[in-house]
Amino acid sequence: MVDKFCAKHKIRCLFAFLSSIDYIRWSCDTPQSRTRNSLRNGSVDKFVINGGEPLSGTVTISGAKNAALAFMPATLLAPGRHVLTNTPSLRDITTMGQLLEHMGCGISKAGDSLTIDSSTIHDFAAPYEHVKKMRASIYVLGPLIARYGQARVSLPGGCAWGPRPVNLHIDGLKALGAEIDLDAGYIVAKARRLRGSRIVFDLPSVGATGNVAMAAVLASGTTVIVNAAIEPEITALLEHLVIMGAKINGIGTPHLEIEGVEALTPANAEMIPDRIEAGTFLVAAAICGGKKVRVERCNPHHLSAVLAKLQRTGATLSVGADTIDIEAPTTIHPVDVATAVYPGFPTDMQAQWIALMSVADGQSVVIDSIYSDRFMHVPELNRLGADITMADNVATIRGGAQLQGAKVMSTDLRASASLILAGLAAQGTTEVLRVYHLDRGYEQIEKKLHQLGADIRREKGEDF
Ligand code: EPZ
Repeated sequence: MVDKFCAKHKIRCLFAFLSSIDYIRWSCDTPQSRTRNSLRNGSVDKFVINGGEPLSGTVTISGAKNAALAFMPATLLAPGRHVLTNTPSLRDITTMGQLLEHMGCGISKAGDSLTIDSSTIHDFAAPYEHVKKMRASIYVLGPLIARYGQARVSLPGGCAWGPRPVNLHIDGLKALGAEIDLDAGYIVAKARRLRGSRIVFDLPSVGATGNVAMAAVLASGTTVIVNAAIEPEITALLEHLVIMGAKINGIGTPHLEIEGVEALTPANAEMIPDRIEAGTFLVAAAICGGKKVRVERCNPHHLSAVLAKLQRTGATLSVGADTIDIEAPTTIHPVDVATAVYPGFPTDMQAQWIALMSVADGQSVVIDSIYSDRFMHVPELNRLGADITMADNVATIRGGAQLQGAKVMSTDLRASASLILAGLAAQGTTEVLRVYHLDRGYEQIEKKLHQLGADIRREKGEDF
């Protein structure tokens, strides 16, 4: 008997050891761990780009970062094993995984398949150390209150381009009956059982819609959310919650009706394609005089506003079920853009669009009505020879620039993407410093661009 017990114990230890290797491998072989290692020794990667190469060929789009960042905390709603596939290997995904692990989840990743075991949660806090790295950490707030009746989540503070309030998250959860106090920079929430309510958002916040919906699915009674966000990542999340057992009507519309249930069950999911990554590669093809670039494994329906604007620049587009072919125009016509909530032109494509308009053959105006301060890329683009002037949240781009390579600094995820696009079009060599910002949201972008013919490589940057 003892021998059998020992053998079983040994096998259990072996499995535990192997899964820990699996985790260690996860944390050692992804771009973000390289970033973490490079950050640890004080140097940061940079991209070196020799511009002027036209792009051609096929690029495969990864799973959507902003879908995965909502699906991962949703696993807290249903204790058990959840497998999320087509999950990109990104720094933000690692950060969210570390936060969930801190709470007690088991996390392992093999390729694009992320397994989260939320059976035993022993810590209901999202410490500042995690939240300061990524605002989306606040997505754990709703599920923790709904499932465990308590949460202590650091306020996310600001980001590179300004304040990022969470009042809509807090007001929505309070409407569901959560008692919420702010204590030393933390949101401290508790609730015996949330109860359904009618919530009208001042504006269709993506994060607040996801957070409040993830709380309402386990509340007693019915919740109505008016002016909900309808971004594809939120629609995908709500559809997934229904698969987990939630009762939600109005998915895909700004009017949601959620009938609370007693419990949800774990479910697997495949992430939708990343529409912003797809849009970024389409603009890369347009700005580089791409012969014929195919973006595959994307969802063209999620990019209607971007495709319409690209068409007006003179690009030739051909749309398939999950592919978009683009041929760059010989001359890029200037096209004005005002960002808007979905299905409008996404704010996450604003920086990339300004880079493209810098080389258009005339003046254009870009307005960001979602984030009025999201223009950290403008001074850096002007260092590359663009001619952009700012007035509040309005960028006027003179166009016609022959961009010249230079050293430029990344400040945030999408600003970094715009600097790479400009570097691809510039004459000479551009060095984009601190590309750890990019590793947050683009999976091996330099490899994908290189495969399309770009002269781009990752190098160790200087210490900072
Ligand atoms: C999501 O952020 C995305 N992040 C962002 O993508 C994206 O830019 C943004 O939606 C807009 O589409 C993730 O999904 C992880 P919001 P989120 O709440 O949820 C104001 C990227 O590059 N607001 O819809 O934080 C807010 O200040 C990232 O991938 C409040 O006033 O965005 C902003 O002006 C960057 N109070 C507007 O709403 C609140 O409580 C939209 O914000 C919440 C938001």
